[in-house]
Amino acid sequence: MTWTRRDFARLGAMGVAAHLAPQINAQAPERKTGVSTDGSPSVGSKTGYAVIGLGRIASHFMPGVRLTTNSQITGLVSGHRDKADRIAAEYGVPQNSIYSYDNFDEIANNKTIDAVYVALPNSMHAEYTIRAAKAGKHVLCEKPMATNVAECQAMIAACKAANVKLMIAYRCHYEPTNLRAIQLIRSGAIGQVQAIESAFGFDIAPGEWRLSKKMAGGGPLFDVGIYSLNACRYLTGEEPNRIAAFSSVIDRDGRFNEVEENVGWTMKFPSGIVASCNTTYGGSMEGYFRVHGAKGWIDVNPAFIYEGLHLRADCDGKPIDEPNPARDPSQFQAEAGHFSHCVQSGVEPQSPGEEGLRDLSYITMIYRSAGIAI
Ligand SMILES: NC(=O)c1ccc[n+]([C@@H]2O[C@H](COP(=O)([O-])OP(=O)(O)OC[C@H]3O[C@@H](n4cnc5c(N)ncnc54)[C@H](O)[C@@H]3O)[C@@H](O)[C@H]2O)c1
Repeated sequence: MTWTRRDFARLGAMGVAAHLAPQINAQAPERKTGVSTDGSPSVGSKTGYAVIGLGRIASHFMPGVRLTTNSQITGLVSGHRDKADRIAAEYGVPQNSIYSYDNFDEIANNKTIDAVYVALPNSMHAEYTIRAAKAGKHVLCEKPMATNVAECQAMIAACKAANVKLMIAYRCHYEPTNLRAIQLIRSGAIGQVQAIESAFGFDIAPGEWRLSKKMAGGGPLFDVGIYSLNACRYLTGEEPNRIAAFSSVIDRDGRFNEVEENVGWTMKFPSGIVASCNTTYGGSMEGYFRVHGAKGWIDVNPAFIYEGLHLRADCDGKPIDEPNPARDPSQFQAEAGHFSHCVQSGVEPQSPGEEGLRDLSYITMIYRSAGIAI
């Protein structure tokens, strides 16, 4: 496979370049235990994470961390002390490293906590990222980065000012099947890419914070449509320069009083590649992408869930069928391993805050085109 400097520059901007270079491993060698400048023992050989918000995604992240060689759970932040106590016992987190949302800022004094993992509803990402940065902690923040562009900019500025790293948890950037699709495209295996289709959606239950505009920022585009948006960018290695979108609400059952039910959007990239994407909260839409090239196609379905990913392709007449046997929580293991490596070695994360900011700026354009206020 031939790589040009331009390919790497583009992929670097997309946050995936290092993962295509076989010599770079998401799992860094263990950091040596030592003594910090103030004479106290340093955190040790592993990056210690305080998990903020002990909900569904945190329950995948924490077992993923446990599988790494360079990361560990050293703190918990929760409004439910009983739940935190249970999880603390499971992960060996001491009682004095359990925080509430009120005393959260005291993590500044906890030397076992190097970083936080923000696993809260979208509207809380900015506040807790900025408070963590002010406490001197590195930040791994869930997607979508925030609910608007201004919040993303404030998060980036706060982490820069505090000299801490900020990574957005785009786990597909560290996932082998997605990386294999990028590799096939860059190698020219399917010729010039012409078009991409992608979708991701599900039938949402009533009562979810995801249905509150204030908590979520918007509907399925913020939550799952963002996977298709981000995939089109890393698959093409380009940034869209034209966007057109439509949205709708079909089910008048009270769930969609604040956020939209469906969004369909089209993007045109500078090379001329066109992408059509859909997202919904009104029915099951298996997360997939299909890339059409001049000499073949790549179909990854499913592409965005935690396990069972499957790549099929036709590369100029040569069929490829690659089911991925990796099981959950391997994607979270790779993601945490990468961020800990960055923290320990001083390199920049492959999906930094700027990557989350770009997606929020495109989400804003999609909403504007669809006539949705943001
Ligand atoms: N990367 C991924 O694959 C992935 C998957 C799911 C969710 N996410 C993201 O992770 C974040 C959390 O999503 P989730 O599915 O774990 O949500 P969740 O509702 O399961 O968990 C949210 C947590 O935040 C806590 N919380 C604190 N204050 C709250 C408040 N005011 N209202 C509601 N909850 C509050 C809840 O108690 C809960 O522990 C979201 O930003 C979401 O987009 C990412």
